[in-house]
Amino acid sequence: MPERRKLVLAYSGGLDTSVAIRWLAERGYDVVALTVDLGEKKDLESIQRRALRTGAVAAYVVDGRIPFLRDFVWPSLQAGAVYEGAYPLATALGRPLIAAMLVQIARREGAVAIAHGCTGKGNDQVRFDVTTAALAPELEVVAPVRDWGMNREDEIEYARRHGIEVPATQDSPYSVDENLWGRSIEAGALEDPWQEPPPDVWAWTVDPERAPDEPAYLEIGFREGVPLTLDGCQVPAVELVEVLNRLGGAHGVGRIDHLENRLVGIKSREVYEAPAAVLLLQAHRALEDITLTRDVARFKEQVAAQWAQLAYDGLWFSPLREALQAFVAVTQRHVTGQVRLKLYRGHAMVVGRKAPQQLYRSELATYGRGDRFDQAAAAGFIKLFGLGTRTAAEVQGQLSGLDLEHLLPAEVRRLTP
Ligand code: ARG
Repeated sequence: MPERRKLVLAYSGGLDTSVAIRWLAERGYDVVALTVDLGEKKDLESIQRRALRTGAVAAYVVDGRIPFLRDFVWPSLQAGAVYEGAYPLATALGRPLIAAMLVQIARREGAVAIAHGCTGKGNDQVRFDVTTAALAPELEVVAPVRDWGMNREDEIEYARRHGIEVPATQDSPYSVDENLWGRSIEAGALEDPWQEPPPDVWAWTVDPERAPDEPAYLEIGFREGVPLTLDGCQVPAVELVEVLNRLGGAHGVGRIDHLENRLVGIKSREVYEAPAAVLLLQAHRALEDITLTRDVARFKEQVAAQWAQLAYDGLWFSPLREALQAFVAVTQRHVTGQVRLKLYRGHAMVVGRKAPQQLYRSELATYGRGDRFDQAAAAGFIKLFGLGTRTAAEVQGQLSGLDLEHLLPAEVRRLTP
């Protein structure tokens, strides 16, 4: 009999990864199950026991919530990363952390491979595979669901044959992934992009139509781009995000309906609930508006888009993301201050912001008393600023594209005294 080899499987407790434990064992692997808690509020101990009952030789449960926020979510918030202007990347940020923990446990256990339950059609397989390649190129990656060619019915049948419990959550028509930064929902009725998401899609947010009549005000305090306080009180990171998810959700804030471009070339309709992410990204951006110079803010938008693409594409652990992180960190030095938000029926509005190092200067902006802006200097500035345009007009004549003759209506009323 060939020697058995050890492997660490990312185990969620669902049907796919439960079937995977047995399937991998049949192929000569001693399966160590790893369940990482990113704040999805599952019963982790029963998942751990289920892993062992299903045939794992060991089962780990790891609380990943603090490293998730500190090392993945906060940097991403500081970067302002939102994929395709819509998706705050909850799932995409969770995967590299889970993969990194798989690698770490694999080393501790002397395993030769890691495994995950991703299909061959999504982004998550890329995130696991590439992260593992980046952190531990010597480890093999096994992806049973991608390889076994079973559909859901086949899997349920396989589970029955092998006495594997079929988790109750299999009844949901949707595929859901959840962590502190958001809830990702796909499949089922959502596959028709013409159909409004049915009410049973939503779990964290109320329908804005049924949100309270009274708005809620909320003050978020940041230090160097990281949220630290709510209404003036310091709150630990996990609790801060949980409170914002609850409060935002209660006001119907954070629903996102996105027709997105997957890395593998598929367009997919994905729905997200991300109240805390939406509130924090908005507040953080408002604080940047008042603390960053125009040039830094504009360049940073390009960095944010690139960052989001890298995170989405599974390139979190890549030289470019690391380099962008250095840029982002420098930009956050003065992003310290307070932002006031008003939550009302599905919307959050920034209604106030202030920062000790803010670049907004009332003595420059004011139309009232105390104006220190040198208006006389504007004339000379504009003379040189417009010089190139004036020269072109003088030398080359009028530009094409606008017929001044046709600008005024044929009939123009002209009065004289
Ligand atoms: N489309 C999102 C992403 O690639 C979410 C995928 C999460 N999976 C799910 N079962 N909804 O990050």
